[in-house]
Amino acid sequence: MLNGKRILLIVAGGIAAFKSLELIRRLRERGAAVRCVITDAGARFVTPLSLQALSEDRVYSDMFSLTDESEMGHIQLSRDADLLVVAPATANILARMATGMADELATTVLLATDKPVLAAPAMNVRMWTHAATVANVETLRRRGVHFIGPNDGAMACNEFGPGRMSEPEEIVAAIEAMLAPAERPPQERPLAGKRAVVTSGPTREAIDPVRYISNHSSGKQGHAIASALAALGADVTLVSGPVAIADPPGLRTVHVDSADQMLAACLAAGRIDIAVCAAAVADWKAARPAGSKIKKKAGMAPPSLELTANPDILATLSKSGPQRPALVVGFAAETENLVANAIDKRQRKGCDWIVANDVSSAAGTFGGERNTVHLISAEGVEDWPTMAKDDVALRLAGRIALQLGRPRRAAAAE
Ligand SMILES: Cc1cc2nc3c(=O)[nH]c(=O)nc-3n(C[C@H](O)[C@H](O)[C@H](O)COP(=O)(O)O)c2cc1C
Repeated sequence: MLNGKRILLIVAGGIAAFKSLELIRRLRERGAAVRCVITDAGARFVTPLSLQALSEDRVYSDMFSLTDESEMGHIQLSRDADLLVVAPATANILARMATGMADELATTVLLATDKPVLAAPAMNVRMWTHAATVANVETLRRRGVHFIGPNDGAMACNEFGPGRMSEPEEIVAAIEAMLAPAERPPQERPLAGKRAVVTSGPTREAIDPVRYISNHSSGKQGHAIASALAALGADVTLVSGPVAIADPPGLRTVHVDSADQMLAACLAAGRIDIAVCAAAVADWKAARPAGSKIKKKAGMAPPSLELTANPDILATLSKSGPQRPALVVGFAAETENLVANAIDKRQRKGCDWIVANDVSSAAGTFGGERNTVHLISAEGVEDWPTMAKDDVALRLAGRIALQLGRPRRAAAAE
């Protein structure tokens, strides 16, 4: 529930603006108060009157209205909110946010705010995949803006692909994940007070400024684990390699490229209780990455690539010592001898548990929605049934809570 939460909804000028009306209705059903700011282009798609009727509040659009500035200026609009939601977030408003523009009320509020911001992008697939939008989204993510969607699907412009705004109920769920965890009763937060680091996605190891070594990891499993731990009350830092999926709401995401950066980000998180290393870290990197693009010259033999080992993040975090997390969980992605290799890996790395998963192309794990895993611990091997990655994450987080969580009675006594 969102009882008493105040959402400032910024409606920009996209075809999906009609879904914002449904979003207001659903947020209000959950107990939230919604106040709307609409851009000039947004007002071409839905009327301020509809937003006003559904939110039962004034709708703001003009930065220079004297009444607005004296009674409800742009700073006050942000101060009065717990969360700013941009839905739909057009390519244009994302670009203006990324460059720090404040040329009308919506962007001025977004620049002036210190509140969390959730953006629900909606645009034509080519606009979403354009290098300019990709760079703007990356910039905003690094600055802490949360994203939900876009989804894949048929679009109003008769094209298919990513660009459809998330459905109102998905946006509400993301908002609840951002605002509600602290409100869950203590018995539902067995990991409250625990700090976790989760690594996710691939790493990219530069060969030269334009080429790199990487792998097919999508980050879906690692991101889902980070969300599941946060839902159980843990204070989570997600260290993510380059992925095409949104930062999960309700936790901190640090974006990195290389294994060296990923290790540094894990260590920078300080003292932690739980480490889950779900990232597919490249084992090797170029021994001497070139400072400029390696040129192909006529008649030249292909250059050889000398590799050197990357730092072993799982082994480093598993090292015993006062800073060692109470529980270190690694992942073993194998294409053959899955369980035997994973048992061996647990011993070599010194971690507590290994989640072993089959990443042969037949299993469809990389990029897919489902995963078949085995949990390997000192007690033995547990075979889990094939499940959605979100369910694997929930089950793993539940097991971590059982292992580390405070006893229910003590938690309930708080
Ligand atoms: C019919 C129509 C539909 C549009 N749909 C979208 C859209 O879904 N996403 C988008 O980013 N821009 C869309 N645009 C373009 C934006 O309206 C335009 O970039 C505008 O300047 C956005 O302003 P704002 O970001 O201040 O709201 C559309 C334009 C028209 C005419």
